[in-house]
Amino acid sequence: MILVVGGAGYIGSHLVKELVEKQEVVVLDNLSTGFKDSVDSRAVFILGDLGDEEDLEAVFSAYPIKAVMHFAANSLVGESVKDPLKYYQNNVAATLTLLKVMLKYNVKNFIFSSTAATYGIPSVDIIEENTPTNPINPYGESKLMVERILENFSSAYGLNYVVLRYFNAAGAHVSGKIGEKHDPETHLIPIILQHLLGQRDQISVFGDDYDTPDGTCIRDYIHVTDLAEAHILALTSLLDGKNKTATYNLGNGQGYSVKEVIDMCEKVTGKNANVVISERRPGDPARLVASSERINKELGWKARRNLKEIIKTAWEFHKHN
Ligand code: UFG
Repeated sequence: MILVVGGAGYIGSHLVKELVEKQEVVVLDNLSTGFKDSVDSRAVFILGDLGDEEDLEAVFSAYPIKAVMHFAANSLVGESVKDPLKYYQNNVAATLTLLKVMLKYNVKNFIFSSTAATYGIPSVDIIEENTPTNPINPYGESKLMVERILENFSSAYGLNYVVLRYFNAAGAHVSGKIGEKHDPETHLIPIILQHLLGQRDQISVFGDDYDTPDGTCIRDYIHVTDLAEAHILALTSLLDGKNKTATYNLGNGQGYSVKEVIDMCEKVTGKNANVVISERRPGDPARLVASSERINKELGWKARRNLKEIIKTAWEFHKHN
């Protein structure tokens, strides 16, 4: 059985939908940001907290867990600058508790959701896994700390792991039943689509004086189902013994500026946006674009869905939710 911690959240719930086709799945989630009805009904759902040893013991003693996939983290760059305690507590300390209980039950396969925010302001246009990491916000720091913990745990305790550094997860499941719904919403694509549905008065572009062609920040948007598929390949590589420790970027390899994303949303929806330029948001690097060559070579993964498909699926989801 595979334990998915944070399986009721945005990315976790998309992974669970794919994983239940192949494995028995138990989801542990405290529903702090996730939704129980996003969890595929074929998975066992347990309400609990990864920072709570008793909750974890209850799961590990009841189910024959062979691997853990960890999606239960806070992930907002801006919030992490304002409230770093929350990020180090929930993303680092709670993960240590999870790892401790895993080792106690001799569970040694771990898939970790990391982030492009570990790179900080990269000195290269296309980021590879060996591009130096130097986070510029507590969120990125918290994820990098766990990556270091995993390296040490691998050497000391024989923990096997795959670290997946996501670039900007976006889009929704093709069924339209699950998608991105945060409260409050801070992510660019849902904010644009909510505005185009009349749920917000305007879109604020956070800074148009960055060192990019149109002055707005460039990101690499990756469809959440492409992310889910990468997780399944990563899990298989651990279970087969092909990987002991690995770190992979997950992106499309193509950057889009905030303005280009707004344009694409207008094109897909056929609606016009009311855009205002506002202050830069603290903690935002100008450009984050991935090379995902390594996972392509080693596990055969490639993003299959482009920005247009990301926005189309997100639009279907937002129209009905
Ligand atoms: N943006 C706006 N206006 C908005 C919202 C966002 O201009 O109303 C801009 C941001 O400043 C940024 C871009 O749109 O330049 C994307 O912002 P998001 O908030 O959608 O995403 P982030 O790039 O800040 O962060 C996301 C995840 C992180 C992850 C990062 C990796 O939330 O967890 O991608 O690239 F680390």
